[in-house]
Amino acid sequence: MSATRVCALSELEQDSAIRVEVNGVAIAVVRDSNDEVHAIGDVCTHGDISLAEGFVDGDTIECWAHGSAFSLRSGKPLNLPAYEPVPVYAVTIEGDDVLIDPAVLKEL
Ligand code: FES
Repeated sequence: MSATRVCALSELEQDSAIRVEVNGVAIAVVRDSNDEVHAIGDVCTHGDISLAEGFVDGDTIECWAHGSAFSLRSGKPLNLPAYEPVPVYAVTIEGDDVLIDPAVLKEL
């Protein structure tokens, strides 16, 4: 499968996230504080909460439910209660298009 366009880069504001679904996979597309774009699994590993509804700070996103922050680079939680990482997907930017293939994990 090839990468799918999920949104326009211009739709993503700095320090914000949107939830998209590609082939049934829920993904949080996040533009961090340095304007870098990341794609991580959208479901918090502690509960059924959308991480796209969380708070972006630097290169992390914090789940609003119980406060676990996840690295947008590695997917790893940085504090409890979550202790399992979320997947991190490769992101391709082509012009104003943000493309993701949920079958392709980012090289960490
Ligand atoms: S559901 Fe995300 S930290 Fe609890």
